[in-house]
Amino acid sequence: TPPAMIDPFGRAVTYLRVSVTDRCDFRCVYCMAEDMTFLPKREVLSLEELDRLCTAFIEKGVRKLRLTGGEPLVRKNIMSLIRSLGRHLDSGLLQELTLTTNGSQLARYAEELYEAGVRRINVSIDTLDPQKFKAVTRWGELGKVMDGVRAATEAGLKIKINMVALKGVNEHEIVPMMEWAHSHGHDLTIIETMPLGEINEDRTDQYLPLSLVRARLAEAFTLEDIPYKTGGPARYVEVRETGGRLGFITPMTHNFCESCNRVRVTCTGQLYMCLGQDDMADLRAPLRASEGNELLNEAIDEAIGRKPKGHDFVIDRRTKQPAVSRHMSVTGG
Ligand code: GTP
Ligand code: 5AD
Ligand code: SF4
Repeated sequence: TPPAMIDPFGRAVTYLRVSVTDRCDFRCVYCMAEDMTFLPKREVLSLEELDRLCTAFIEKGVRKLRLTGGEPLVRKNIMSLIRSLGRHLDSGLLQELTLTTNGSQLARYAEELYEAGVRRINVSIDTLDPQKFKAVTRWGELGKVMDGVRAATEAGLKIKINMVALKGVNEHEIVPMMEWAHSHGHDLTIIETMPLGEINEDRTDQYLPLSLVRARLAEAFTLEDIPYKTGGPARYVEVRETGGRLGFITPMTHNFCESCNRVRVTCTGQLYMCLGQDDMADLRAPLRASEGNELLNEAIDEAIGRKPKGHDFVIDRRTKQPAVSRHMSVTGG
């Protein structure tokens, strides 16, 4: 039998999300505060250490590996890590090597990513209005991201657009975003904002339940539930009018934790068993303690053995504090 990591609730952990840097060239308003302090380099795992860590997880049963950040493509020499990890695709152990990116550096990397074995990427775009894009990302330029999406499409990468639904900000752009994405052959997933880390805004002002979004969409479009599965948390519909796929990620209105298959590692080697809980296990110490993986494997097993049942996110005027104090950019979602 192939190796497997099984948690206390019988769920197999087959999906690893690895944040390769906490840095980002954007400052999305729902993700980061305007003045973020980033980690000093010595705290961050080297590319070789990241490779060793990912490989250990793959040998333990991970089949889907996603690099995140911050922004993964701002990490120096990131392609050397991605190319190296591609060997696990060739050996057949790994089924998918992918990343979630803000797209700012994509034009430069698209072809190399394809050559390394990446076939599908997720690009975060919350609005197609350049001025609003600037307002949401604080630092981003939509034109560059669009160049990236075009380059990636030409390179043969399948693209899924991620859009965080923000009340009063982009709620009236969901239809245009869907029409744009679908007409270019991209899937679109809409995401409920989650309470992670202190930001400069009140999340109760931003939060838009997707049950409402779906009901509104259903007035103008025919949405058919489909069993399409990527291994991520989205539930998909096919939109009959566009022929495209639309996903809903609903941590707030519909908890999907019962089918959770994933864990995440930060760029400092902290393993978080749940996005919405503080409990974590340090893997950097065992990784650095010896060249062999015995201590590392032990630490991983022990941590999987206490993966919690789920998150307890709430967005509510009475609970001003975020559910967990770390920012999304620490664990990459
Ligand atoms: P696919 O492989 O395309 O299914 O991607 P994915 O949805 O797994 O990854 P992506 O990085 O695109 O994440 C989209 C959104 O889902 C982000 O806002 C993540 O924070 C969120 N997300 C991913 N995994 C989890 C999870 O385990 N719990 C919660 N609450 N949110 C998650
Ligand atoms: N809630 C939901 N999604 C978020 N993302 C970043 N911060 C949040 C948040 N607070 C999204 C990004 C990206 C993905 C990795 O997570 O837009 O698409
Ligand atoms: Fe950067 Fe992504 Fe956070 Fe935006 S959501 S600031 S692009 S890490």
